[in-house]
Amino acid sequence: MSFDFDTVINRRDTDSRKWHKYSGRDILPLWVADTDFASPPAVTAALQRRVAHGVFGYGVTEPAAVAEAVVAHCARHYHWTIQPEWIVWLPGLVCGLNVAAAAYGADGDEVLTCTPAYPPFLGAPGNQRRRTVTAPLARRDGRWEIDFAALAAAVTPRTRQFFFCHPHNPTGRVFTRPELEAVAAFCERHDLVVTSDEIHCDLILDPVAHLPLASLSPAIAARTVTLMAPSKTYNIPGLGCSYAIIPDAALRARFEPSYGSIVPDVNVLGFVAAEAALREGEPWRQALLAYLRGNRDYLAAFVAAELPGVALSRVEATYLAWLDVSALELAQPAGFFEGHGVGLSDGAAFGAAPGTFVRLNFGCPRATLAEACARLKRALAAR
Ligand SMILES: Cc1ncc(COP(=O)(O)O)c(C=O)c1O
Repeated sequence: MSFDFDTVINRRDTDSRKWHKYSGRDILPLWVADTDFASPPAVTAALQRRVAHGVFGYGVTEPAAVAEAVVAHCARHYHWTIQPEWIVWLPGLVCGLNVAAAAYGADGDEVLTCTPAYPPFLGAPGNQRRRTVTAPLARRDGRWEIDFAALAAAVTPRTRQFFFCHPHNPTGRVFTRPELEAVAAFCERHDLVVTSDEIHCDLILDPVAHLPLASLSPAIAARTVTLMAPSKTYNIPGLGCSYAIIPDAALRARFEPSYGSIVPDVNVLGFVAAEAALREGEPWRQALLAYLRGNRDYLAAFVAAELPGVALSRVEATYLAWLDVSALELAQPAGFFEGHGVGLSDGAAFGAAPGTFVRLNFGCPRATLAEACARLKRALAAR
């Protein structure tokens, strides 16, 4: 079966947050992390069947069929055996990060994370009266790595949690088994609960399998909250269906009451889309990965050949490219590129030093990416 990722679908003046930001301006939005692709036909068909039913009353809060789809997906793709009762449903993973921040430790306790970090990693602890403490990733031979010495130096007696992102947004790293074992050992040594955000786990572009942190050993599973969702992969974040997988009953018991009735149930369409994506979306996902590999390679070659002063480490996963623009010495790189027709995310929001990085979302038709690259080149020529 073939799928079309080349057709440019017009999202201007729709309900798209990504495109609305630049409404009325000729700026290609390559910022927020959704793609410009239509979801798999199986997802659209399942939604159409559900919409045709016409009744949208309260849904089942713990839908067994969707939980079974998650259990089967984890077994098939990650060789990770989970139980349906370990799943806690969430309307979004940012919500999950906030719930996790609130669930463990007390006011003023610290949540440790590595920078650069997806911005809610930095903001969620403060929202929940915790403190964010950061340790930078190291770049060794052009590869982003966890700096365990920096992490250890950042731990204090008030550190209760580690927020981990794997595969990593924004660097695109897929951490290896030895790296994950070192993360597990670190968290065990310092008695930390780990919230492992694995939302990008089905978007691995290199030929390696996803290894959930919690699948490494019963010991690390007992202290891990794994956050996952089909939203990034199948482009359904607007339908809000995500989940935490928490094997340890005590950890789960602390997570659930902390959100109580503040967090709404997942809506019925979100469940329908998630189940269809997980059960029937695999051929489409494989085609998507092939397309994204092509985009990644196009972008990497373009950066190397046409964008002097810009550097990109290998993007092993995700459709996000973390571009080092520090050599350009721009005070506001995202603003500069916006002025030349490309909307990127400013690295400073991810904890990078101002003026050093921008993030580019290449989850778009090749023609859009090529046009954005041409604009970036013209922007550099105009400096
Ligand atoms: C690492 C990571 N976590 C969470 C999210 C957002 O999750 P949600 O839309 O479910 O809140 C994103 C979106 O880009 C992300 O990259």
